[in-house]
Amino acid sequence: MPEVLNPATTETGGLTESAPDSTAPAGMVFYHASEGKPLATPWQVALIRSQLLAQAALPEGMILDCACGSGIQLAAHASVLQRPALGVELDPHRAQASAVNLRTIAEQRNELATSRMQSTRVIVGDGRDGAGVLDALKEHLGTSSRSKIALLHLDPARPRNSRTHGLNEMAPRLDEVFAGWQPFLEEGRNGPSLLLDLSPRLTHDQRLEVEALIDLTWPGLLRTWVWTSRGRGRVDRLALWLGSAAVEGIARRFVRIPPALGAEPTLVSGGRRLMHGPAHPVAVNRPPRRGERISILDAALVESGLAEDWLKRVSKENDIAWGVVEGRRPQIHHAHPLRLEAPEDRLLVQATGRVVALARMPLAIENVDRLVEVLLEHDIARLTVRATLPPEVQPKIQGAIDRQLSRRHGRRDAFLIQQPGDEMLLICIAE
Ligand SMILES: C[S@@+](CC[C@H](N)C(=O)[O-])C[C@H]1O[C@@H](n2cnc3c(N)ncnc32)[C@H](O)[C@@H]1O
Repeated sequence: MPEVLNPATTETGGLTESAPDSTAPAGMVFYHASEGKPLATPWQVALIRSQLLAQAALPEGMILDCACGSGIQLAAHASVLQRPALGVELDPHRAQASAVNLRTIAEQRNELATSRMQSTRVIVGDGRDGAGVLDALKEHLGTSSRSKIALLHLDPARPRNSRTHGLNEMAPRLDEVFAGWQPFLEEGRNGPSLLLDLSPRLTHDQRLEVEALIDLTWPGLLRTWVWTSRGRGRVDRLALWLGSAAVEGIARRFVRIPPALGAEPTLVSGGRRLMHGPAHPVAVNRPPRRGERISILDAALVESGLAEDWLKRVSKENDIAWGVVEGRRPQIHHAHPLRLEAPEDRLLVQATGRVVALARMPLAIENVDRLVEVLLEHDIARLTVRATLPPEVQPKIQGAIDRQLSRRHGRRDAFLIQQPGDEMLLICIAE
């Protein structure tokens, strides 16, 4: 019989890895074990996700995380949704850390004495074995029937240090978890609810493979793919929200975690079903013109396939052309300014501005004098180089431009970009 831990009585003895989470309220320290810290979901990300999940009508029952690691996401779900939590973790020290973290979070939120905490447990065992886990819990709690499961959360471990990995390298494997828990998930309006926290490194085909696995167990189950980014254009997490946890009518969602703790996330929802393709925009080869606008968008938003949905929110133009769709600086060309009054929309743009000069010269240190002359003609005080340069060259050129401009008297902010395969420098006044 697997061991069952009660957070109320689990000691911290033997747990040596503890770390404050910089995104958690001051003083909150989480325990990790067996080098579990890098695997743990940051508190701010976990909390925002649970708050979004609170909008779903979940069926009755406990929140299950069947590979709960340090239990951070499980604790956030259980606390925000006010449900009892059931964690399962193969590594006994991590299971112990989870139990302690569940208690810490409940304590911080003044919820230790709630009935949901009285039936919250962590089981040291195999998260694929639904029947074994539920029977151990039933015996431990002395209840007459197995507990009900409202939501299955799964954030499987993946091989470290590998850029790509197959679905069968996830631990535990999705198909085995589905088989083990399928009989025990309560059904809501849209069937059972599941939240799969997957790696953004999964290829489009692997994402479709995940969908195929779902369909084998729950044919046609409702699904919303969710891309989460904490900034710098990186997708940090890719999750699949399923069944009663999915958002009706929304195939994709992009969630930008705000820089300020406690602030609302930026959401972009819409998009096409994954089976209709990755939905990346298509680049057109259109020579840049003076007077037009160029914006560099958030690369993670573009990766999610939701950039065009978002553009509908901030622009009425029909004729927006994609100059660059790949890499760190996706670019669009447009005639009118974007409507970026809302700070959450501003977050999704790296730079936006009007092209005031086209300078045909290689971007090299020996051309900085000539470039600065062009900048001064346009009253530019500061220029951010947003062209792709070798990392050792970028700071030298940026520094030389900064030094020269600091001795002159321009007033405007600008940025410089290039089109792929073209040395023409596009100088844009920032808007
Ligand atoms: C990525 S971590 C989960 C992190 C968690 N979401 C958090 O917020 O701390 C995945 C965990 O799955 C555990 N695991 C792997 N195979 C398992 C299995 N068959 N049953 C239970 N847990 C398993 C690993 O030990 C690891 O701690």
